[in-house]
Amino acid sequence: MTKAINPIICALDTTDMWAAEAMTKAIKPHVGGIKLGLEYFTAHGADGVRLITDMRVPVFLDLKFHDIPNTVAGAIRATAGINTFMMTVHTSGGRAMLRAAIEASDEVAQTTGQQRPMIIGVTVLTSMDQDDLSIIGVRDKLDDHVLRLADLAQSAGLDGVVCSPYEITAIRKVCGHDFKLIVPGIRPESSDAGDQKRIMTPYEAMERGADYLVIGRPITQSGNAAMAAESIYDSLQRTTELA
Ligand code: C5P
Repeated sequence: MTKAINPIICALDTTDMWAAEAMTKAIKPHVGGIKLGLEYFTAHGADGVRLITDMRVPVFLDLKFHDIPNTVAGAIRATAGINTFMMTVHTSGGRAMLRAAIEASDEVAQTTGQQRPMIIGVTVLTSMDQDDLSIIGVRDKLDDHVLRLADLAQSAGLDGVVCSPYEITAIRKVCGHDFKLIVPGIRPESSDAGDQKRIMTPYEAMERGADYLVIGRPITQSGNAAMAAESIYDSLQRTTELA
């Protein structure tokens, strides 16, 4: 399957709008997209997102929607004015919520006349372990629960899921090759793991079948973000699947 020309999505985990703008300007030639999350969106809303999309860089809006179907659909429809290429919802919100999310993304496309934003599912947060699952009443093994939710996401029509690099192989087996896998927990060789525990290099994750790599601090905290992003991109050129 043909992959994104540049699969690197840089996570800008900041509330500083001007730092986000400067960082985007610096790394734009070397990444395939920018991820903005809850902290940035809560601080700056749609105008903050537009500041980045106006720089003509694809934006992944990672707000992990989880509510009743009508509310999630309304939130997704409300993104028509900010033109993001990818958004997240919690798959544990259930089939009706996931279907409503996809239908709303179709409506966004009708409004904007552009491609439908991809709707990507979050399965089990990587901050949760088996004990956390049993506290909320889930008796399945964590890995099985992730696969169940990935399967649900696919059957409801979602475009893909976020997953750890170590889940790629199992999810590919269940969901096939046309289902997008968005993979954080990436660390280039020689970079600091920080608080991420189960990490993998960008090259290894692409070889295992990732579609997009979400990479934050190894780029943003590197001292020279443009050079760090460029060097990660160069490290991927050994990956035969890249278009
Ligand atoms: O700085 P770092 O590369 O660890 O950033 C990874 C990004 O991916 C952060 O924005 C983090 O919130 C996000 N993420 C993650 N693990 C998940 C889902 C998202 O690290 N399971």
